Amino acid sequence: MKIVIIGASGTMGSYLVNAFEKEHEVIGADRNNPNIKVDITSPPSITRMFELIGPFDALICTAGPTYVGPWKTLTDATFRNGVEGKMMGQINLVLIGQDYINAQGSFTLISGAVTHEPQKNFANASAANAAIDGFVRAAAIELPKGIRINAVSPTVIENSPQYFPFFPGETPVTMKQLEYGFRKSIFGTNSGYIISL
Ligand SMILES: NC(=O)c1ccc[n+]([C@@H]2O[C@H](COP(=O)([O-])OP(=O)(O)OC[C@H]3O[C@@H](n4cnc5c(N)ncnc54)[C@H](OP(=O)(O)O)[C@@H]3O)[C@@H](O)[C@H]2O)c1
Repeated sequence: MKIVIIGASGTMGSYLVNAFEKEHEVIGADRNNPNIKVDITSPPSITRMFELIGPFDALICTAGPTYVGPWKTLTDATFRNGVEGKMMGQINLVLIGQDYINAQGSFTLISGAVTHEPQKNFANASAANAAIDGFVRAAAIELPKGIRINAVSPTVIENSPQYFPFFPGETPVTMKQLEYGFRKSIFGTNSGYIISL
């Protein structure tokens, strides 16, 4: 399977590249990638990426920039980090990518548990995640060519200890659990699911 991983240099992305490249052709992309550069906040940049990559079978997105910070620092400008990044960036990957993905292919987007279990400093992520969850459910009933779409929605993950203080009492999701959430989406048959971890 030819699998595209957006956010390949990140905490989640680098783990998933390593996990999937043993069995599949994996193509990583992010803003500073030596091979495939993409800025998901720019639709022309997304189109250029898909033109370079050509047809593929699955796309994972772990790039979901949001603004993390105290309530008082939330403004139109700071909030747009999540709107133009995690929300529209991922939605545009699907709207543009549907013309490049093979029939029966799959998109797996990144969401997060703060949608339903808010934590201080994460209002921007909560809102962007909720938009992604809604988009995934709606897109699943309209995407052509048997294309599936799901979102993986973890709480804080074990390789991000810098976030532990923001999630008191939360048991971190292991990287293996995260990998299997993505495996369920890519290699399973469901569509329109929010895979909560
Ligand atoms: N870490 C957690 O505990 C956790 C838990 C639940 C949900 N999440 C969500 O999961 C996502 C990934 O988390 P992470 O911890 O893996 O993040 P991360 O380590 O910061 O990695 C983010 C990746 O996305 C890329 N990226 C950022 N902005 C981009 C853009 N505009 N265009 C293209 N690529 C971009 C980054 O590379 P460049 O900056 O070089 O482009 C990097 O490869 C986030 O949306 C986060 O909200 C994280």
